[in-house]
Amino acid sequence: MDWQALLENCSSCHKCALGDTRTNVVFGAGQKNASLLFVGEAPGEAEDLSGVPFVGRAGQLLNSFLDEAGIARDKVYIANILKCRPPENRDPSPAEEEACRPWLEAQIRLIDPRVIVCLGRISAARLIKPDFRITKEHGVWFEREGRLITAVYHPAYLLRDPRKRPDFKADLKRIYDQLQQTEQS
Ligand code: URA
Repeated sequence: MDWQALLENCSSCHKCALGDTRTNVVFGAGQKNASLLFVGEAPGEAEDLSGVPFVGRAGQLLNSFLDEAGIARDKVYIANILKCRPPENRDPSPAEEEACRPWLEAQIRLIDPRVIVCLGRISAARLIKPDFRITKEHGVWFEREGRLITAVYHPAYLLRDPRKRPDFKADLKRIYDQLQQTEQS
């Protein structure tokens, strides 16, 4: 499936019940051939209304940290584990994650990023390993299917606990450095 077909199919998806309550499918945004892919958890209210990932308060915080780290948001791709908003922003259910999985897998195949960064525990549990411990393992590099992958705190968590912001900043710096290295090799 090419990108356009993927987008069209995903936009009319009803593989789980979130298809009945969403306003918009939040497919993803950014460069379709980005070296760096960020994967969050699921759209919140602002994303559901706009159809664009990370545009609410957490997204604005993410933007300011990306700016500071020298990572241009329009040069990366940003997607989520779930394309539709769970009501009341509850955690995604295993069945919803499973139903939504093929969309993200297809995006990863087409984008073919060198580096994937999971935003938060839920994304890391899905893409790195089920028992991922975000406090212990954020910023650690793993390899999955020939790609480098790591996880950082979810920006919404940084809104609740600003003491974690220096760790987030340091992780982004490591990610920036890693990207420079992989791009040179
Ligand atoms: N939180 C997420 O995980 N994804 C979004 O798109 C917005 C908030």
